[in-house]
Amino acid sequence: MTDHKDLEAEIHPLKNDDRKSQDSPGNPAPKEPNPKPAAPAGLSRCRTVAFFLSLFAFLLAVFVVSFVIPCPDRLASGTTWSVSYNAAVAYDFLATSDINKDRIQDVLFLYKNSDGGSNVSLACAEEGFSSPCTFVAAASGANGTILWERPAAQNGALVECTGPQPRGGEAPAACILLGRPGPFIAVNLVTGETLWTHPNSFGGNTSILSPLLWVPDVDADGAPDLLVLTREEKQVNGYIYSGSTGQLVGPPGSLGVDGTSGAILHVTRTGAPYVLLPCESSLCGFSVKGLYEKATGRDSLLKTDPLWEDMLNATSHQLRLHSWGAVRYVMTIPGKAGEDLLLVTSEACMLLDGQDLAPRWTLGAAQIHRKPVLGHYKPDTLAVVIENGTGTDRQILLLDLSSGAILWSQALRGLPRDPQPASLPTADHRSAFFFWGLHEPAGANQTDPRAAPHSLYLFHPTLPGVLLELASISAHIVASRVVLLEPGRHAACILLTGPASPDVPGLVSVAKYKVQDLVPSSRVIHLVQGGPDSDQAVRNRFSRLRYRSEA
Ligand SMILES: *[C@@H]1O[C@H](CO)[C@@H](O)[C@H](O)[C@H]1NC(C)=O
Ligand SMILES: *[C@@H]1O[C@H](CO)[C@@H](O)[C@H](O)[C@H]1NC(C)=O
Ligand SMILES: *[C@@H]1O[C@H](CO)[C@@H](O)[C@H](O)[C@H]1NC(C)=O
Ligand SMILES: *[C@@H]1O[C@H](CO)[C@@H](O)[C@H](O)[C@H]1NC(C)=O
Ligand SMILES: *[C@@H]1O[C@H](CO)[C@@H](O)[C@H](O)[C@H]1NC(C)=O
Ligand SMILES: *[C@@H]1O[C@H](CO)[C@@H](O)[C@H](O)[C@H]1NC(C)=O
Repeated sequence: MTDHKDLEAEIHPLKNDDRKSQDSPGNPAPKEPNPKPAAPAGLSRCRTVAFFLSLFAFLLAVFVVSFVIPCPDRLASGTTWSVSYNAAVAYDFLATSDINKDRIQDVLFLYKNSDGGSNVSLACAEEGFSSPCTFVAAASGANGTILWERPAAQNGALVECTGPQPRGGEAPAACILLGRPGPFIAVNLVTGETLWTHPNSFGGNTSILSPLLWVPDVDADGAPDLLVLTREEKQVNGYIYSGSTGQLVGPPGSLGVDGTSGAILHVTRTGAPYVLLPCESSLCGFSVKGLYEKATGRDSLLKTDPLWEDMLNATSHQLRLHSWGAVRYVMTIPGKAGEDLLLVTSEACMLLDGQDLAPRWTLGAAQIHRKPVLGHYKPDTLAVVIENGTGTDRQILLLDLSSGAILWSQALRGLPRDPQPASLPTADHRSAFFFWGLHEPAGANQTDPRAAPHSLYLFHPTLPGVLLELASISAHIVASRVVLLEPGRHAACILLTGPASPDVPGLVSVAKYKVQDLVPSSRVIHLVQGGPDSDQAVRNRFSRLRYRSEA
């Protein structure tokens, strides 16, 4: 009955409205057609028509926008895809960038093969390599279709794609590849075509230290430049290349120290750029201005910082730090007044002021073997993920970045060659954290680490007593990324798997998994006894997790 009335009301509202709109307010004779106020009636009819016309136009527009115009997000990187190569080798490189401008991030990776997987006529010899050689490939994030691929090096390469675009975006976005060994080339990110190429001039015993570092424009051609650090006979050498042409800027200079990979560019509060690298158990620093002037003999417009010049030992180039063992990693951290430095040594992890290097906090007694990862445990407050110990002794710690206080800690067995932890911002201004490892119930017999699959765990700070085991991968994982392929949409895990040794070619595969699809079949691990939520309630909460594009 009531349904009928509602239906009636829905069918007739326009009639009622129409009649009401004809009545002038306070007119007591609604049933009679009112001939007297002709002009107002015409006016209001006119208004009514205009109103309904505009309403119609509006609804039409809404209809067109929501249904007729195909929404680009609808081709949503919905499901899993994968690309495989037989008898190939994979290298630890995975990057994402929107290459085909469909607003879905695409995936870049390296593999070594005798020919390009999707294009047999793409021969190594065409680019001057012997077969097999290393290809760089771009796969569509939406469905895994190869957008372009090309030979780029003989045996692996260092790649830098995300660096600042030369000349304020006029020049095409590029990936710079430095073969190990191989030429120094820049390829157009959109087409894969060569922008420039130079044979590299390193000696036979030279190892190239990762990463390729973007430094401020030293040769004053308007584009940021590249610093390549190499190590030869226990000496680190610096090569500065023009970022726009790849030309060597002046002869290479010896830095006069021995060092390892992991150099960073740090800009002091006064705007002076310094290159920092772990060296001889300490941290060495070089002003970019000094490196350039030494290489070319010309003056540079870049600045140096008097305080830093004072803190740097002019002969050893070491920074005066409180001794906490050998420096393993250094990273820049966004701070309130500028960049601060997070330092991991063989004994501790510490946050240093980015200007005077005074320790803000120190976490001692920590055995950290991998670079920390940042995320948000509390809303809008940076936290740092560290792994203390290895193997069965590994503990994952989440530290408040401003105080060093431990926010969360959990023992989670690490397996050899587990990928790094990762984090992704969620809509509640915290982060979802992803850890690899193997959670075994206490007292269970330990599985052989060589046979154990790598499991991926999801953690969110709003459910601190729960880990969600999303997947178990038995293949050897060469690289992995957890990313949002589309702004504001679902998280995806990209995995590059391949042979464990580059000497034994095998199946190489790049696969994309949607995290949301893994949740329903995931295993819920209650870290505390008697948690309030059932497994299904936990899965439902993780299914509703919304991610946020990074600012
Ligand atoms: C294969 O590679 C060759 C040489 O680079 C190119 O001319 C051709 O267009 C490619 N074919 C396809 C289907 O990509
Ligand atoms: C894959 O997705 C791209 C858009 O990223 C589209 O242009 C292409 O047609 C798709 N290919 C297939 C085989 O669906
Ligand atoms: C590389 O190093 C080895 C031993 O350290 C030496 O015998 C060889 O001559 C070096 N090769 C080059 C090209 O410098
Ligand atoms: C600089 O380092 C050298 C070698 O490590 C050392 O002998 C010297 O005393 C240091 N100079 C200062 C001022 O600390
Ligand atoms: C790191 O692990 C070691 C040994 O497993 C332990 O003694 C130490 O207390 C741990 N450090 C922290 C900060 O938890
Ligand atoms: C653990 O392994 C031992 C011998 O390897 C076996 O005797 C024992 O039953 C196993 N325990 C469990 C819980 O599997």
